[in-house]
Amino acid sequence: MAIRLGDIAPDFTADSTEGPIHFHEYLGSGWGVLFSHPRDFTPVCTTELGEVAKLKPEFDKRNVKVVALSVDSLDDHKRWSGDIEETQGARLNYPLLADQDRKVANLYDMIHPNANDTQTVRSVFVIGPDKKVKLTITYPASTGRNFDEILRVIDSLQLTSQYSVATPVNWKDGQDCIIVPSVSDADAKQKFPKGFRAIKPYLRFTPQPNK
Ligand code: BEZ
Repeated sequence: MAIRLGDIAPDFTADSTEGPIHFHEYLGSGWGVLFSHPRDFTPVCTTELGEVAKLKPEFDKRNVKVVALSVDSLDDHKRWSGDIEETQGARLNYPLLADQDRKVANLYDMIHPNANDTQTVRSVFVIGPDKKVKLTITYPASTGRNFDEILRVIDSLQLTSQYSVATPVNWKDGQDCIIVPSVSDADAKQKFPKGFRAIKPYLRFTPQPNK
């Protein structure tokens, strides 16, 4: 069954390039990103996994553990990681699950048979410290993902989990936020000491509260 926002991310144990991973235990009290790619030794996937390795310090800064997955063997993962390092200039520095029996892929509905019945699509799940799914994205095999966008969403998720704000279109860390409609103007004055501007009664902007 499809995984929806707010669902508990299914737990599992699986082999990875960094040894066995007990998923919930591995995430601990932090955030997580689980993402699938269709196949090892394919061009778009090679660029994606290299990019995530380069961005690892950005995920670390946000207390996010990244886990990748495909239905290939551990042996293939290990051989392919040499190609990733050689061609992308970045060494794999996060676990890549070897899901040959498709246990995790099926648990997370990552195989979409009308797209391809043997390979995973490009799924992304962002998981919060409460182990609930906060974001799902699905890309087709032919389109490499924009991991800067995934970091941007994580910034928004982490901010909105702490303050009564939402983030507007194309928002980036540091820009003004929207005060959620459930907060009255009187309460907004208390909660947002930097002030706010009301364009409409339901459209109120305030400087990012944690900056
Ligand atoms: C790729 O990573 O380049 C790729 C993988 C599967 C299908 C199409 C492209």
